[in-house]
Amino acid sequence: AGGGSDKIDYVFKVVLIGDSAVGKSQILARFARDEFSLDSKATIGVEFQTRTLVIQHKSVKAQIWDTAGQERYRAVTSAYYRGAVGALLVYDITKRQSFDHIPRWLEELRSHADRNIVIMLVGNKTDLEDQRAVTTEDAREFAEKENLFFLETSALEATNVENAFQTVLTEIF
Ligand code: GTP
Ligand code: MG
Repeated sequence: AGGGSDKIDYVFKVVLIGDSAVGKSQILARFARDEFSLDSKATIGVEFQTRTLVIQHKSVKAQIWDTAGQERYRAVTSAYYRGAVGALLVYDITKRQSFDHIPRWLEELRSHADRNIVIMLVGNKTDLEDQRAVTTEDAREFAEKENLFFLETSALEATNVENAFQTVLTEIF
């Protein structure tokens, strides 16, 4: 500990949004602690975790906020988005409805967040390829139309989770 190496150059707030059960909390658990749980409980209110990483020789503390996808458990919207410089907009590749709701999440995000916010569309659960209900092409097309970054991830297999956050944080930078 110490030695002056704990200096933080930047703190970036990033928010996770999307329907309930798409895997937001497990994506965060994978990124912040390299953990994953199959019996993850629905989030109530707001939780956040931080991880400090080095980007372009600067120490960046990523403060990742996670809220409930379920309306009744959601936190105050304006406070959740306040100060956010990045967002992961998550759907489940095996649940068509979670992808069909993305325009609504995007609308909420765009009406509450800073207009320069960096947004990554994330199709989670690629380990369940045999149950896929949203093609990569459909999602990519939507992302291009809306000017979003896009990646497919698996929190379970730790695929592209690091990449998703790294891309957003680097772009903010
Ligand atoms: P809310 O808190 O209700 O908004 O849900 P959430 O989006 O935070 O979902 P959560 O992370 O709690 O995950 C929901 C379920 O999906 C849990 O059973 C997770 O274990 C599972 N899950 C999350 N990510 C993956 C994944 O990449 N692959 C698989 N197979 N299951 C996943
Ligand atoms: Mg959750």
